[in-house]
Amino acid sequence: MASVFVRARSVYREEGIVPLLRKGVRFALQQFFTRVVWNVLPKSRIFRFISRSRVLTALYFFLTGTFYREQRAVLSGIAAYEELETQRKAPRHRIIRSVHRIEKGLSMRDRRDVFAESYIQDVVGDVVAAWDPDTDDEQLRWAVDVLSEYFDTVDRTKIIAEAELKFMAFLSGIEYTPDGRVPFPRREFDEPPVSPEAMEQLAVRRTSTRWFQDRDVPRSEVDDALEVAMQSPSACNRQSYEYRLYDDPELIDEISSLTIGASGYSDNIPCLAVIVGKQRAYFNDRDKHVIYIDASLSAMALQFALETRGLASCCINWPAIPRNEREMESLLGLDPDESVVMLMAIGYPDLDGMIPYSEKKPVESVRSYNEV
Ligand SMILES: Cc1cc2nc3c(=O)[nH]c(=O)nc-3n(C[C@H](O)[C@H](O)[C@H](O)COP(=O)(O)O)c2cc1C
Repeated sequence: MASVFVRARSVYREEGIVPLLRKGVRFALQQFFTRVVWNVLPKSRIFRFISRSRVLTALYFFLTGTFYREQRAVLSGIAAYEELETQRKAPRHRIIRSVHRIEKGLSMRDRRDVFAESYIQDVVGDVVAAWDPDTDDEQLRWAVDVLSEYFDTVDRTKIIAEAELKFMAFLSGIEYTPDGRVPFPRREFDEPPVSPEAMEQLAVRRTSTRWFQDRDVPRSEVDDALEVAMQSPSACNRQSYEYRLYDDPELIDEISSLTIGASGYSDNIPCLAVIVGKQRAYFNDRDKHVIYIDASLSAMALQFALETRGLASCCINWPAIPRNEREMESLLGLDPDESVVMLMAIGYPDLDGMIPYSEKKPVESVRSYNEV
């Protein structure tokens, strides 16, 4: 009990009376629930009961507020998508998605004579609007290549002919000549460059490493590893995330203090990545989880790529704690549609540092075939 008073006094002195009251109420509620309510009514029964009702579930999360930031991010992402699209400033994700759809159409075994008719005019308009004569944007070049291939391939309808006219006028006004970034047969790849044994060794070697040498991590090494990470699959190739890297010890300290999982070793992290998902890549809330999937797939590839360069890493959880989220948002200057997916400590491993063994589940326990 004495520690509660000490803590209350320090909150009062450092933050004032209002935060003290807020924290006091929260603490009292926590105590009430853990000591009284959950003893009388088991948590499992209450939660099961709430989860059966749509209204109670919504009410529960409205009161806890843990989903608020995610919901705000999704809505503000859709708004950002719409703004960029209608203003035609930088319809990047729409271009990528459309070009991806056209590539899929071109790659179909039974390719249709006419496809993409419903959006071809939009995508041509988007590419024309986004093109910058000094661009070194490889994705825009890819878009131009795919559109050229498309117009070489499809049958003409009135809509497609109009789009082609616009595209040809655009092509004749720029200096870029299409360069073959279009669907290709799989046989163009040689044998896999990594043996199954080497891949397994790499996977076993990739262990969450929390102790690092006091040695700078060259930015070029991280960039090269990121090149690998960026080859990861993503929904419609939109790659809806970014890596914010920190190698300034003060910033690393500040950022990692907002996490829970790095306490005890955060002061020896030489490089910290904050992986930020961007809901602005999506126009519909049905895709609300994609930022987490895209970012995580790429994070996994990054970890493997770092290992091949003698670097080690450890994912750090980003828990949905509203206060920490607010602080992170203001520290990193995140936009409302941007959410931290996870953090990653990166560095040269301290070879004397200990690594948890972390026995894994057997394949049989997680795999099934044709189960219905
Ligand atoms: C999403 C995610 C969050 C994690 N969060 C933390 C964390 O906050 N702190 C930490 O030290 N390790 C964290 N880890 C590392 C896990 O503890 C580790 O991957 C797991 O125990 C298996 O060990 P291994 O990575 O060595 O195979 C996290 C891993 C993942 C994938």
